Amino acid sequence: MSSAVIIALAVAAIVVLFAVVLLVTARKADVRGAGALSRETRRRDRDADIDLPAAPSGRSVERAAVEDRTQALVPAAAAAPSIWIPPDREEIGVNRRQFLNRATVTLMSTSLLTFAAAGFVAFLWPTAAPVFGGKVNVGKLTDILASIRSNGGFFYASNARSYVTVYPSEALPKAKGVKEYKALLGGMEDGIVALYQKCPHLGCRVPECKSSQWFECPCHGSQYNRVGEKKSGPAPRGMDHFAVTVSGTGDVVIDTSAPIVGAAIGTNTTGQEAEGPHCI
Ligand code: FES
Repeated sequence: MSSAVIIALAVAAIVVLFAVVLLVTARKADVRGAGALSRETRRRDRDADIDLPAAPSGRSVERAAVEDRTQALVPAAAAAPSIWIPPDREEIGVNRRQFLNRATVTLMSTSLLTFAAAGFVAFLWPTAAPVFGGKVNVGKLTDILASIRSNGGFFYASNARSYVTVYPSEALPKAKGVKEYKALLGGMEDGIVALYQKCPHLGCRVPECKSSQWFECPCHGSQYNRVGEKKSGPAPRGMDHFAVTVSGTGDVVIDTSAPIVGAAIGTNTTGQEAEGPHCI
């Protein structure tokens, strides 16, 4: 094949190829323009004076809704403000809870005030009848000695928590040698001693035993003679005493403000032995 024929075939192929490209491009332009307005058409439409119905805007819709709601409210009738007047307590009365509360507070207040007033008066008022812890008048000496004789050897003064017994005058010389009896000598010289009822062992009340004429403790069996000197048992000493004075008028006064520690074990000024069966 000659070169001229080859060139002719190449030119023909290029022309065919160019024609195909043009054809395809035209076809795409047709598809894109389907249903779309051309630029010219759109420009004409814009310039045309056409009265289309205007759609309401969102703001106007909201404003209309607010106006509807506002018009639906019925304004209250204007009235002059009224003045609040507190209710009359007399008219209301008192309910049960208020009554109980007030009654409780009143009773408690009255009780406290009465108690305080009584304590104040008792504090200021001189004690008419001294009680345990102070100087206690237990009666006339003659009456007490008579009671001791008639009651089997013992006199119990409950307000002084003490027993009063006879102290034999023949024992006085020995008593003067006992240091624990120094404060008791005045009463002993008047013929009596006052014994604290509390056992020096562990504090039980020690009763008298009329058959033995001793004091005999029911708790652990300590025994003391009639003037409180220890005879047996676990007690660490004799019974404690209180100082006794006999006034000019014959009144026996027991000073219970401070017990006087009992005599040491072995002290035996009276030499009194048991005069009968023991009680414990
Ligand atoms: S309390 Fe009296 S003997 Fe123990």
